Amino acid sequence: MGFVIAVDGPAASGKGTIASKLGAAYGLPVLDSGLLYRAIGLAVIDEGGDLDVEADCVRAASSLDFANLNGERFRTRAAGEAASRVAVHPAVRETLIAFQRDFARREPGAVIDGRDIGTVIVPDAPAKIYVTASAEARATRRWLQLLGLGESADYEAILADVRKRDARDAARAAAPMRPAEDAALLDTTDLDIDAAFDAARRIVEDARARREQSPKG
Ligand code: C5P
Repeated sequence: MGFVIAVDGPAASGKGTIASKLGAAYGLPVLDSGLLYRAIGLAVIDEGGDLDVEADCVRAASSLDFANLNGERFRTRAAGEAASRVAVHPAVRETLIAFQRDFARREPGAVIDGRDIGTVIVPDAPAKIYVTASAEARATRRWLQLLGLGESADYEAILADVRKRDARDAARAAAPMRPAEDAALLDTTDLDIDAAFDAARRIVEDARARREQSPKG
């Protein structure tokens, strides 16, 4: 396997920004796995399906081209909420495993951010970071981000969303959100993006050094 960096953590913890900066720093492609679940959630809504019905979500997933996802629509609150509802279904998660693992397997490696990358998708990733921050700090970031997108946003409603999403993502039976046992924890509550990235980079450098010393290489 190439050098895979798994970046997991809750919504708005900073993991997406950290992942894209790590990708640029190490010359690795970046996969935002949340986008896959967001795309399925939006496709279910577009097709008039029910987000809580597994078969509707699997059908929507089968018509998507995961290699070609972009657009601001994916970043909305509604897309995040829909994503976390479709992500509960084991058969939906199943449809995404091969795509994510293929992405991880390509040389020279990859950076993938999500909830279950270090635990389920690439459990043998040489570098794993679990990014957290207080719910209030994350709600503030999401609020600023949504304002930037031109969405009218109420801070209290966003904080409630963040808490609801954390609870759903952590409590589900299929690949719940949790740090891998060998993940380094990075709390970004009091860090700006430069400081958070510096800390992430130190974690990755330690992982690289460990890998070079290990007999398997
Ligand atoms: O990271 P992002 O906020 O885009 O993720 C949206 C939702 O997709 C999460 O709340 C989670 O339910 C789901 N997800 C997941 N596993 C991943 C990535 C995202 O279950 N690897």
